[in-house]
Amino acid sequence: MNSKQRKVLITGANRGIGYETAKQLKERGFFVVLSARDATEGQSAASELGVEFLQIDVADEKSISAAAADFKERFGETLDVLVNNAGIYPDDDQSILEVGKTQLFHSLLTNTLGPLLVTRSFRKFLENSNEGGRLINLSSKLGQLSEMDDTAPTYSISKTALNAVTRQLSSALSGKQIAVNSVSPGWVRTDMGGENADLSVEEGADSVVWLADEAPHSLTGKFIRDRKEIEW
Ligand SMILES: NC(=O)c1ccc[n+]([C@@H]2O[C@H](COP(=O)([O-])OP(=O)(O)OC[C@H]3O[C@@H](n4cnc5c(N)ncnc54)[C@H](OP(=O)(O)O)[C@@H]3O)[C@@H](O)[C@H]2O)c1
Repeated sequence: MNSKQRKVLITGANRGIGYETAKQLKERGFFVVLSARDATEGQSAASELGVEFLQIDVADEKSISAAAADFKERFGETLDVLVNNAGIYPDDDQSILEVGKTQLFHSLLTNTLGPLLVTRSFRKFLENSNEGGRLINLSSKLGQLSEMDDTAPTYSISKTALNAVTRQLSSALSGKQIAVNSVSPGWVRTDMGGENADLSVEEGADSVVWLADEAPHSLTGKFIRDRKEIEW
């Protein structure tokens, strides 16, 4: 790591949009810390890209705390960009009227509480960023209240709640020079999105990479799609 390099941490980056974001930010000169819950898969993905690996299971508070301590020891106390990318989509065709509470709990734990707890554990490092920290939460069109129907209820509810986390954190961190935004990447061809999705993974990572690297730091508390603000 050289002193001029900006440092980014990306959760759930062993595959999909997270992996692509790691790849593109590495190409743009970032010092990339690729994180995953599975050490073998994460280490292998990091080696492919020539970046660092940090194990985090975002659904496990102990894993998050241990990762923050490990990060500090290996990479120091500064972080410029945190991308809360890890997510699950456990819904099949169950209706909101019947879906089990365990499934709802798992969606909320991974997609909403996980990003909040990761942010709380890494916040001090973001506050130390010279250029102002940037926090990016991977949300979804399905979390957009203004367009919501009864598709994928547990996933959708968890992403709407994540958008609320974005608004809360944007306000709470406004005095700390940390910009906080949600991204709707579109429907992307990954394991989650499936092969019929309309966007490539390169296109799906575009707004995330833009927010990490180029967007004005004054942009905060927004929901972003295709580099533009959209309705909540
Ligand atoms: N693809 C789309 O169309 C689409 C649309 C809107 C929003 N998004 C959002 O974009 C983000 C990335 O999605 P994707 O399409 O790249 O999905 P993906 O290919 O299914 O990848 C999801 C990643 O999250 C990781 N993950 C899941 N639970 C985790 C946990 N507890 N701790 C750490 N990592 C965990 C997975 O790790 P494992 O390999 O260990 O399972 C995997 O690396 C997600 O937040 C998703 O909701 C995707």
